Amino acid sequence: MNQKTLVLIKPDGLVKSLTGNILMRLSESKLEIVAAKILRVNKELAEEHYKHMEDKPFFKELIRYIQGELHGRRKVMAMVYWGEDALTKVRELAGSTNPEEADVTSIRGSFGRITTKGIYENVLHTSSDAKEAEREIKLWFEPDEIIVDLYPTKTVSMETQKKRVWA
Ligand code: CMP
Repeated sequence: MNQKTLVLIKPDGLVKSLTGNILMRLSESKLEIVAAKILRVNKELAEEHYKHMEDKPFFKELIRYIQGELHGRRKVMAMVYWGEDALTKVRELAGSTNPEEADVTSIRGSFGRITTKGIYENVLHTSSDAKEAEREIKLWFEPDEIIVDLYPTKTVSMETQKKRVWA
């Protein structure tokens, strides 16, 4: 089945210069990247992305982690992978959320660690299921930033909205 999934290379992945390595590992899936960008994650986006984890004791640290405050690298690389069994394939290549439990040949098993404060620094995030993928992709990307139509869209006029353009 054709699926889509959000992949985030987290600040620890970027600070360890793992981008090329992670992309190479994910390319084994033969999936297509249909959207990609580097962005700074503000608190609002971080809290919305992890809102289902707000009761966890590590929530505050998790928000600081995805914002890059633990690594002095305030950026994340966000991508959408698309194709046959995308969710399963990317999750398998990524390995378990807990890097100590992840298969040692997986991305998290190879490059992740658990911090002294107990946060799983697992270098990348991948969507857990189709419902989460839809919520996350819509949170991180505008429809026009994705080169295929993944979900229904509508056109609205926003005359009052200001936009920065090239001078
Ligand atoms: P991610 O795939 O981004 O989804 C939620 C994140 O919370 C996860 O990766 C880890 O970085 C972190 N996380 C999940 N479970 C735990 C846990 N039990 N202890 C510490 N950090 C966790």
